[in-house]
Amino acid sequence: MYPPFSFIGIKMTEHQIKINFTAYDSVDELEVQDKKLCLEAIEALKTSHSPYSKFRVGVAMRLQSGKILHASNQENVAYPSGLCAERVALFHWGANHADDPIETMAVTAHTDEFELTKPVTSCGACLQVLAEYEKKQGCAIKMLLYCQGGAVWSATGIESFLPFLFFEDRLNNQ
Ligand code: THU
Repeated sequence: MYPPFSFIGIKMTEHQIKINFTAYDSVDELEVQDKKLCLEAIEALKTSHSPYSKFRVGVAMRLQSGKILHASNQENVAYPSGLCAERVALFHWGANHADDPIETMAVTAHTDEFELTKPVTSCGACLQVLAEYEKKQGCAIKMLLYCQGGAVWSATGIESFLPFLFFEDRLNNQ
């Protein structure tokens, strides 16, 4: 038997991070404007350019002014040159509407290849970009991850999704 780690001078500690999200069985359980945003995300699927993955992702973002922005994933024959729908939406907002904070972002997906039974959860790179803009606008963004005809998962604030995001303070050795 090896001795306990503390015996040989190693004092490691175990940590747990708890994240919370709300699951709805249907969009009908959402408040009216959030349901509308999920339906707008479905509309955005139409503009997806995804001939390679055949996986469409649609986003609708509601800004503080009430304006709604749409975006979708845009792929490229040189695969890494494409971009997820969430980042298409966020970079468009950053370039054109950054004085109008993002309140809520609805994300949905569709493929003809199989039936999606759970909401699509955004990739780490999109979440890191989301974190940047939450910081820039000074308020948290509500995410609605919507599986058409099924569940909606919702959480507000990037740390619900990416607790180990890269924080700016690390750059300054704080
Ligand atoms: N995709 C998104 O647009 N958002 C996500 O959250 C996950 C993946 C896109 C990228 C690519 O065009 C296709 O879905 C398959 O990965």
